[in-house]
Amino acid sequence: MIIDNWTLYYFLFFVNQMKRIILGMTGASGTVYGLRLLDVLLQTNCEVHLAVSDAWKSVAKEESGVQILERFTLNPNVKLYVSDNFAVPIASGSVPNDGMVIAPCSGGTLGCIAAGVNQHLIHRAAEVQLKERRRLILLVRESPLSLIHLQNMERITLAGGIIQPACPCFYSGGNTNDLIDSVVARTLDLLGVEHNVSCRYSCQ
Ligand SMILES: Cc1cc2nc3c(=O)[nH]c(=O)nc-3n(C[C@H](O)[C@H](O)[C@H](O)COP(=O)(O)O)c2cc1C
Repeated sequence: MIIDNWTLYYFLFFVNQMKRIILGMTGASGTVYGLRLLDVLLQTNCEVHLAVSDAWKSVAKEESGVQILERFTLNPNVKLYVSDNFAVPIASGSVPNDGMVIAPCSGGTLGCIAAGVNQHLIHRAAEVQLKERRRLILLVRESPLSLIHLQNMERITLAGGIIQPACPCFYSGGNTNDLIDSVVARTLDLLGVEHNVSCRYSCQ
């Protein structure tokens, strides 16, 4: 029997019981959400298929320093894709995964996914998630919201996606990292990834 590289890859993937998560990062404020999510996904032994939009690079330069991404791309569990290349596994429904999250998700990307328009790879990967009835979580960051945003959110919700607003909860603690983690932890819960990012509400 001939075993090719892909067969071997999938065999090892299933034996390892790793979760395969697609992470898209687009040009909304809140690049820290995506970067922290990536950090925790790798800590929890997930394989992350990562795509960033050109607009993300501009926003990240202002907010976090785009070189931060280089630290992750050296990790063998990160597969980084160029956003205008559609000839990659996450653009096809034939390659299974355990969920996709877009963090942060811009109003532009929200609109493209709601309209079924594929301007770049992240839109296509999200379209695939919806058509395959797989988990899709959009960490939308915009304020305030127009009727168009709200209608796009409704369309995506009706199609099976989850709108997870980038709204921290303030009972999580006082500092910025706690606030970021409160959103990241909820997102990991929605992805079904076990984690120990502290975030649970306690009555004590
Ligand atoms: C510094 C900066 C901050 C931005 N913040 C937001 C934001 O919070 N939400 C949003 O929807 N768009 C924001 N934008 C606009 C998006 O980057 C723009 O609509 C872009 O076309 C989105 O493309 P993408 O979804 O393909 O990444 C911001 C742009 C810049 C330069």
